Amino acid sequence: MSQPSALSIRPATPADIPPLVEMVNAAFSIETFLEGQRTDAERLASTLQKGEILLAEDADGHVLGSVYIEFRGKRGYMGMLAVAPTQQGNGLARRLLTVAEDLFRQKGCEAIDISVLSLRPELIPIYDRFGFKECGTEEFRFARTFRDQDAACHCILMAKEL
Ligand SMILES: CC(C)(COP(=O)(O)OP(=O)(O)OC[C@H]1O[C@@H](n2cnc3c(N)ncnc32)[C@H](O)[C@@H]1OP(=O)(O)O)[C@@H](O)C(=O)NCCC(=O)NCCS
Repeated sequence: MSQPSALSIRPATPADIPPLVEMVNAAFSIETFLEGQRTDAERLASTLQKGEILLAEDADGHVLGSVYIEFRGKRGYMGMLAVAPTQQGNGLARRLLTVAEDLFRQKGCEAIDISVLSLRPELIPIYDRFGFKECGTEEFRFARTFRDQDAACHCILMAKEL
């Protein structure tokens, strides 16, 4: 794993969608239990209408990470936290989260909500280190289907007070 020399984090624009799609799908390719891909250009375009995507890039403009943030009154919603496979384990997710938290605070949010698939139990200790606590469960209601029709999956809701 290589540590990018100069890394910056900024809000994504529609022009960033093609490389973002590629990076996000590469990061989420670990979710082999789901059919299809995590996202596409159309989906990201509509995501950008609802909230903001923070994008991490190196000095050459390569997209290395992302996180979706949405302001919901006193609470912020965060999703699509993704780091390019070759860059994982270097602290980039924590850096993205720190920037996201600052923006949520600036907008007056008092907590952040996230949702984690129960088929990804390895994520719970990671979000725990980031300060999130489990606070409930929800039915899985996304457009994608499971490769195994009998797969049992729900969403684990986690929240962090700011
Ligand atoms: C999950 C993901 C975003 C993490 O990105 P990353 O840049 O590798 O994460 P970081 O290097 O910032 O490390 C995250 C923290 O979790 C810790 N961690 C990593 N693996 C861990 C484990 N198995 N158990 C406990 N803590 C762990 C790290 O030590 C770090 O904590 P620290 O900053 O206190 O040392 C990245 O692996 C990814 O893109 N995965 C695919 C997409 C995905 O699953 N996104 C989340 C969807 S909800």
